Amino acid sequence: MRIDILSAVPKLLEGPFSHSILQRAIDKGIAEVHIHDIRDYSLDKHRKIDDYAFGGGAGMVLSIEPIERCIDKLKAERDYDEVIYMSPDGELFTQKIANQMSFNYKNIIILCGHYKGIDERLREHIVTREISIGDYVLTGGELAAAVVADSIIRLIPNVLNNETSALTDSFQDDLLAPPVYTRPAEYKGWKVPEILLSGDDKKIEEWRHEKAIERTKARRPGLLED
Ligand code: ADE
Repeated sequence: MRIDILSAVPKLLEGPFSHSILQRAIDKGIAEVHIHDIRDYSLDKHRKIDDYAFGGGAGMVLSIEPIERCIDKLKAERDYDEVIYMSPDGELFTQKIANQMSFNYKNIIILCGHYKGIDERLREHIVTREISIGDYVLTGGELAAAVVADSIIRLIPNVLNNETSALTDSFQDDLLAPPVYTRPAEYKGWKVPEILLSGDDKKIEEWRHEKAIERTKARRPGLLED
């Protein structure tokens, strides 16, 4: 899968893809992530990419031209399944959407907003899907784009190994994940549940399922209703 991320602050996106599981996925060629600086597509001699909002008001708006130029270049090189715009007023991102995207999409463009956002005409004519990662406002779409890319990439087959398998994730079966423990079996008198030390795989599985349901009921009952 290939993900192209367009940003006015590309440095914000350097970290998330340069470490650990995502870096390995990229090194192995399972996923490709390309970060594009929108300023590189400005024809202005000062690399300007934004302008005042028509009608007045505080805040600058990202202009159409540099963004469209970048997207046109990418589209001329390959087909894209979706041009996604990260925005707090988009569709709320969930594990279900991450699964669908990871399974169905081959190439996607993710456009990060900044300042007051992007010219609405980009949303009307170029963007095909708008995603929010939650009901709060970030300074830009970059961190949100990294969240979306991370959650999609880790679901691609062979990105995670047995130990980090996505099958036991919270939400994957509409349940939160059960608690986990590691050595020592006792610390300051705090004990690991006996059952986990029993070696009885079937009983352990049942216990984990029970705990997952208990936790989901207590913390996110809405998931059980869904
Ligand atoms: N940009 C700013 N806030 C955002 C959010 N909550 N989700 C997606 N993109 C954003």
